[in-house]
Amino acid sequence: MKTVEEVKNYWSRNPLFSLEVKNPGSPDFFNAIDEIKKRDVESFAMNYWDFKGFNGKKVLDAGCGPGWLTVSYAVEKAEVYSVDLTKAAVELTRKFLDHKKAFAYVEEGSVEKLKFENNFFDLVVSSGVIHHTPDLGKGFRECFRVLKPGGVAKITLYHKGILHNKFVFPVIRFAMKMINFNRPGANLPSAKDADDFIRQYDGLNNPVGIGMNASSWSDELKKAGFVIENFELHFFPKRFIPFGQLIPVWFHYLLDRYFGTMIYFNLRKPNN
Ligand SMILES: C[S@@+](CC[C@H](N)C(=O)[O-])C[C@H]1O[C@@H](n2cnc3c(N)ncnc32)[C@H](O)[C@@H]1O
Repeated sequence: MKTVEEVKNYWSRNPLFSLEVKNPGSPDFFNAIDEIKKRDVESFAMNYWDFKGFNGKKVLDAGCGPGWLTVSYAVEKAEVYSVDLTKAAVELTRKFLDHKKAFAYVEEGSVEKLKFENNFFDLVVSSGVIHHTPDLGKGFRECFRVLKPGGVAKITLYHKGILHNKFVFPVIRFAMKMINFNRPGANLPSAKDADDFIRQYDGLNNPVGIGMNASSWSDELKKAGFVIENFELHFFPKRFIPFGQLIPVWFHYLLDRYFGTMIYFNLRKPNN
């Protein structure tokens, strides 16, 4: 099993978006992230995040990366606490907050061992993080522990869907080669199988990246104590497809909803 230290080293060297957007930490970098998140990653998930719904509430962003979620809740006046394994992410998040003239408490820490007391948060969000941590059960249990009874968690994870099926994936890999689909810092058309494709999605040397189907993720979340309210698929990464910006909105919506690479869970901690 990989260690948290290896994960930390990887993300310290490769903060999210630093492989594709220039000048991390500059105003242009944050404007570009905002654009990518709104136009591509979260295009059809803005209602899911419900940024305005947690005004005055305590929100944890577990694994904040460069801080787009932190900033989005903070500008709507939630009381936001953010942690990330890496100093690089903490510094980027603080700069992003300054850029938007917003405030949050941001510090280094691991979702596997949160320093917060039990039952502290109204909302825990963790976007694309726990599938990168070596002990994902610990990560889910910690998110559950710090949530108030009746509180909400929004956790997004790599989705292993029909396109990763062992008979379908070789066809997809061939299509990726044909249309030259790749991500900066990865070599996706050379992935040896679907699991390797998912692992290296965030970079060729990414140590941990686990994808599962809805039922397997649901089992893990239930083991941690969560009640699953519902889930949605999102994030069909059209920006890596040549001429992807020409995809019409209605078609992007269908790709996002049916072939989204991420599964977005709406979870609740039961009132005892
Ligand atoms: C793909 S990025 C997601 C960043 C951000 N949540 C977003 O959606 O833009 C993954 C982030 O998770 C962080 N991470 C990985 N394992 C972690 C852990 N055990 N505890 C806290 N952060 C972790 C990494 O440092 C990295 O910043």
